Amino acid sequence: MAEEMRIVLRNYGKIDPLKIDDYIAVGGYNALNKARSMKPADLINEVKSSNLRGRGGAGFNCGVKWNFAYMAQADQKYVICNADEGEPGTYKDRLIMEGDPQSLLEGMAICAHAIGATQGFIYCRGEYPSVVKTLNMAIAQATEKGVLGDFSIEVRMGAGAYVCGEETALIESIEGKRGEPRIKPPFPPVVGLWGKPTIVNNVETFANIPAIVEKGAAWYAGIGTPSYPGTKIVTLTGDVVNKTFFEVPTDTTIREVIFDFGGGIPDGKGFKAVQIGGTSGAFIPAANLDTPIGFDAMTEIGAVLGSGAVFVLNDTRDIVDVTARIAKFFAHESCGKCAPCREGTMRMHDLMDKINSGRGKSADVVLLNKLGRVMSYSCLCGLGQAAPAPVMTTIEHFPADYNAKLV
Ligand SMILES: Cc1cc2nc3c(=O)[nH]c(=O)nc-3n(C[C@H](O)[C@H](O)[C@H](O)COP(=O)(O)O)c2cc1C
Repeated sequence: MAEEMRIVLRNYGKIDPLKIDDYIAVGGYNALNKARSMKPADLINEVKSSNLRGRGGAGFNCGVKWNFAYMAQADQKYVICNADEGEPGTYKDRLIMEGDPQSLLEGMAICAHAIGATQGFIYCRGEYPSVVKTLNMAIAQATEKGVLGDFSIEVRMGAGAYVCGEETALIESIEGKRGEPRIKPPFPPVVGLWGKPTIVNNVETFANIPAIVEKGAAWYAGIGTPSYPGTKIVTLTGDVVNKTFFEVPTDTTIREVIFDFGGGIPDGKGFKAVQIGGTSGAFIPAANLDTPIGFDAMTEIGAVLGSGAVFVLNDTRDIVDVTARIAKFFAHESCGKCAPCREGTMRMHDLMDKINSGRGKSADVVLLNKLGRVMSYSCLCGLGQAAPAPVMTTIEHFPADYNAKLV
């Protein structure tokens, strides 16, 4: 694809992921060697000025986060890679881990040098058993070659809970506890795993690091949109000709993603809506198709880039039915720790189900909006805060579809 730009997936399909020598032959671990010749503070400044922002959903500046852990005084610090990838429709982290696992290990080792950590964990979703094998093989090879130095990495498997992708629930899970989010602050870079300063970054975030260290912050900051530079791996699903993945600069528009890379809507049907960022993402109507996929541009139209999953609906789809199913997902996945999410996701599902089955009244739509607003302000973690987004945005952009089902 002509307009694709591969930074994270630069080696994907080109090297044997199970052979560390292949990775080294294409310049692998040069960045770690360079990083180790730098003072941690200088390295962190480089990452900070690249303006790399987290690819796991929240879009926090990576270097700023690393600096919190660097500044924290502790006898032990940890680096955790969030490979839970629980967002339906998302499989970008799997591509990286399957296709180029050493790039992830190198990114984590650079982070370890920056903050002063000697232990790392990769928290990989349990639904990816073959990825776990690949990772363990990659870690064994890197350890045998001695490239990781005194930094050791272990893989921990999740057990299928969506909430365990939330960084503090993930930390609880690694500690052997029930996966429930912690009250923040304190944030993990200061008080994390076993109470120690901990960096949690997404797979794609870490996989960007070697290229940034090698080619420099200025190079990276010049790609895509200035406020969210670099590239983004997009996984495209739903009613598109090409259900596939690609890596594009962040100034690529939603229209280009769906119609150029995705090949448009199949079977001569029209476009109805697109949901970006996974199940908790907003539904976007045709009027906003020319928005770039970068984080801030998406936020401006009330959407979140999130994981980069793009789910397209054609004009024959029943959007109220789709939204009701999503509400069921959140009611199922709420961990139940906080009342607004435990009760809110259940009530939201009840109301959506009522409307979808033709029993709803216009007062139920008003109630859904009120409930959504309360949840987005009062839930303890991002699960409950974001769960109302699909409901509220479909009510906003597709009122006729709701009206058609009301009694
Ligand atoms: C319910 C929920 C699920 C999440 N799932 C993931 C996930 O699967 N992978 C991920 O990297 N981040 C996930 N996150 C975001 C993490 O909490 C955290 O922001 C991220 O791992 C930080 O890494 P980054 O700065 O590199 O993006 C999730 C957040 C919430 C609230």
